Parts: sequence; structure tokens; C-alpha cells
Amino acid sequence: MELFPIPSETYKLGFIGAGKMAESIASGVVRSGVLPPSRIITSHSNPVRRDAFESFGVTLLPRNEDVIKDSDVVIFSLKPQVVKGVLLQLKPLLTKKKLLVSVAAGVKLKDLEECADQSRFIRVMPNTPSAVGEAASVMSLGGSATEEDADLIAQLFGSIGKIWRADEKFFDAVTGLSGSGPAYIFLAIEALADGGVAAGLPRELALGLASQTVLGAASMAAKTGKHPGQLKDDVASPGGTTIAGIHELEKGCFRGTLMNAVIAASKRSKELSQS
Ligand SMILES: NC(=O)c1ccc[n+]([C@@H]2O[C@H](COP(=O)([O-])OP(=O)(O)OC[C@H]3O[C@@H](n4cnc5c(N)ncnc54)[C@H](OP(=O)(O)O)[C@@H]3O)[C@@H](O)[C@H]2O)c1
Repeated sequence: MELFPIPSETYKLGFIGAGKMAESIASGVVRSGVLPPSRIITSHSNPVRRDAFESFGVTLLPRNEDVIKDSDVVIFSLKPQVVKGVLLQLKPLLTKKKLLVSVAAGVKLKDLEECADQSRFIRVMPNTPSAVGEAASVMSLGGSATEEDADLIAQLFGSIGKIWRADEKFFDAVTGLSGSGPAYIFLAIEALADGGVAAGLPRELALGLASQTVLGAASMAAKTGKHPGQLKDDVASPGGTTIAGIHELEKGCFRGTLMNAVIAASKRSKELSQS
């Protein structure tokens, strides 16, 4: 069956599930100018959620059905345990003219496609820094999604951070790394700040320095194109302070512990998506 291209200059974007992730994506899309708010719609009965979207110009419609009818691209931003039931309910409206997207963690394309009875579907795994425009997202394409569909989704999610494309078989590993990774780094920031306090710094200064140090190091790793091992070597002078600190991290199995954390979270993601 021939697929109609999504009209890139005029398409409307709908969200089913007007929660935190939908708000991050919609506000990022509007802020970056990828779409004007007049082309974004959603639905929610809770006035607090409605206000959150209306504050940046998104239109609220009465029902999910109205959102689907009026959208060319629909992002299902629902909790994993809810998404399949909602797809089944809305199935009669989910024609192949529409590009469907799910951000629900752990829900496979096979199941999404089966519930929607169509495979013009893209699964995206974003992470919580989407709230500040720094998401690390990965997408995988369903059976009928086209290259143009992928470009459109890359543009939408590019407005809330960076997005990569990968085979769906990698999604548990993606969950273990970028999905759970922000929590590992929050722990690291807290521990760095505690170290600063232990070494005599006031708490507020220690926390500020710890956060900015992680931000700066991440920015250098992402922007210089240098291998992180090279960046580490560049700042570890012979007999200096940094190599003394690195020695302690190595004694505490810092790298092995982080690797194990990613592997453990990936395994857990696999277990949860099979249950
Ligand atoms: N937040 C993140 O950073 C993040 C990262 C990666 C993946 N995800 C995925 O993104 C999805 C959404 O997460 P979230 O953090 O945005 O959760 P959320 O804030 O709870 O958003 C889900 C929204 O869906 C609404 N909803 C529930 N049932 C509905 C229905 N039948 N029709 C329409 N709306 C309905 C909920 O309303 P009520 O609150 O009134 O029930 C809520 O507003 C999840 O699957 C999660 O795995 C989130």
C-alpha cells in the first residue's frame, strides 16, 4: 500500500498523554521553532496539565479521538502499562496516513504495531534531560516507517537534545546507558560535592562546582571529538593532583562499577519488557 508523505510544511503534531515527557517535547519543538504551537494539539482533563500546555500556545481538545483525527503525526507519551490499551481503543482512527510514535519505555514495536494494526510506527527512547533540552534519544523504525518519517522524528526530537538511530535489539542496552544514566551521574555529582564538603568547602559552593564540572567535562567529551582517555591524560600531569585522585578511583573500581551499572540496568530492562 502506498504511503502518503507527511506534509512537512503543514503537518499537525498530536500528543496522546499530556504528561512530563510530552510537555518537554512540545515545549522544545516550540522553543526551537521546528513547529509553531498552532500546529500542536493534545488532550487532558486536569486543569494543571491543560495550563502547562496552553502556557506556550498548544491547543487542548476534548478527547484523544479529536487529537488523532486532527493530527498527521501522533506521539503516544503514556505510561508503558497504559499505551497498548489506548492504542487498541483508538485503532479504528490510526490510518497509514498518520505517523505514529511511542516513547513508552520497554514496549516493543511488534506489540505497538499489533495494537495499532499498522506499522508506520517509530519507537523513541528519550531520557529525563529532555526537560532541559539535553536529551539523549534513540529511535527505531517500524516496518512501514519511511526515511522521510525518520527525518521528521529526528528533527522533532533534535529540538530536545540529540537523537541516534539504532536497531530495536539495542533498546535494553540504551535503557541501561542513557535511560538510567542520568541517575548515575546525579549520584556522582552528589558524591563529588560531598567530597568537596569533606575537604572543607561550603555545601552550596561544592554542589555548584560539582554540577558545572560534570557539565563542562561532558561538553568537552561531546564537542572536542577527542577520546575521553586522551582528555583524561591531558589533565593528569606527572606526580600531580589529578593522577592522585584517579588512582583512588581505580582502587575503588570506578570504571568497572559504572560498566556493571549499565549491564545490570540493561538486564533489568530486558526482564521488565518480557514480563
Ligand atoms: N519522563 C522521562 O524523562 C521519560 C524518559 C524516557 C521515557 N519516558 C516514557 O515516556 C512516557 C510518559 O512518561 P511521563 O514521564 O511523561 O509520564 P506522565 O507524566 O505520567 O505522563 C503520562 C500522561 O498520560 C496521561 N494519561 C493516562 N492515561 C491516559 C489516557 N487513557 N489517555 C490520555 N492520556 C492519558 C496521564 O494523565 P494522569 O496523570 O491524569 O493519569 C499523564 O498526564 C512513559 O512511557 C515513559 O516510560 C519518559
